[in-house]
Amino acid sequence: MIIAIDGPAGAGKSTIARSLAKRLGFIYLDTGAIYRALTLKALRKGIDMHDEDRLIQMCRETDLAIDNKEDGSIRVFLDGEDVSELIRSPRITKYVSVLARISGVRAEMLKLQRNIGSSSNSVIDGRDIGTVVFPNADRKFYLDAEFCERVRRRFNELKSAGGTISLEEVEADLRNRDRIDSTRKCAPLRKADDAVYIDTTNMSIEEVLESVLNKIGTINNSRISEAEKIKP
Ligand code: CDP
Repeated sequence: MIIAIDGPAGAGKSTIARSLAKRLGFIYLDTGAIYRALTLKALRKGIDMHDEDRLIQMCRETDLAIDNKEDGSIRVFLDGEDVSELIRSPRITKYVSVLARISGVRAEMLKLQRNIGSSSNSVIDGRDIGTVVFPNADRKFYLDAEFCERVRRRFNELKSAGGTISLEEVEADLRNRDRIDSTRKCAPLRKADDAVYIDTTNMSIEEVLESVLNKIGTINNSRISEAEKIKP
């Protein structure tokens, strides 16, 4: 069973996807981590973020793996190196959308995402999961929130992780990524027609999780009980 969760940064996708996966005993696939790891490699190699041919070639020569931990967290491995923390840096965040808009890069990453996602019951979050990567996902959600609220959440998140980024910088980053992600030609950020839209602006994490679980349960109970069987 595949549960797709799409939406812009700060809408609560990864928090909800991680909790949901843990609750259901599914694997969690954070597809943003894949694009972030590729961005790290490109920056390390000094590849121009507009040199599409070199970036596509680099993707072909890259080994990416995502490991789900017991506590619900994930580790990301780039060519065997654990880069889980490095890929969250502001520098990676600044460039990731530029790399992710390249259709050849996305095409290279499709197979990996489909292989991981279909290897087990999965909760997958990203921008194009319900529209492109898994258009036949069993459940689709699109999480959204007002821009100011998304900025506030991301700022608090980075601050509590020890970051020194200002509110204005977070605002500029989100505005920039929203624009690039939603206007790119290939797999732009958009709600799949059959996705459930949830505006999380005035909702707590628990309320969103509850709402998602309710919607999953009411659509098809038999499949969920099947999934519940593999709970650890
Ligand atoms: O956590 P946050 O929402 O800030 O971002 P992320 O999920 O880590 O994704 C980082 C970036 O990767 C996004 O801004 C997109 O440019 C790109 N991305 C994408 O293009 N397609 C996906 N399925 C996931 C992420």
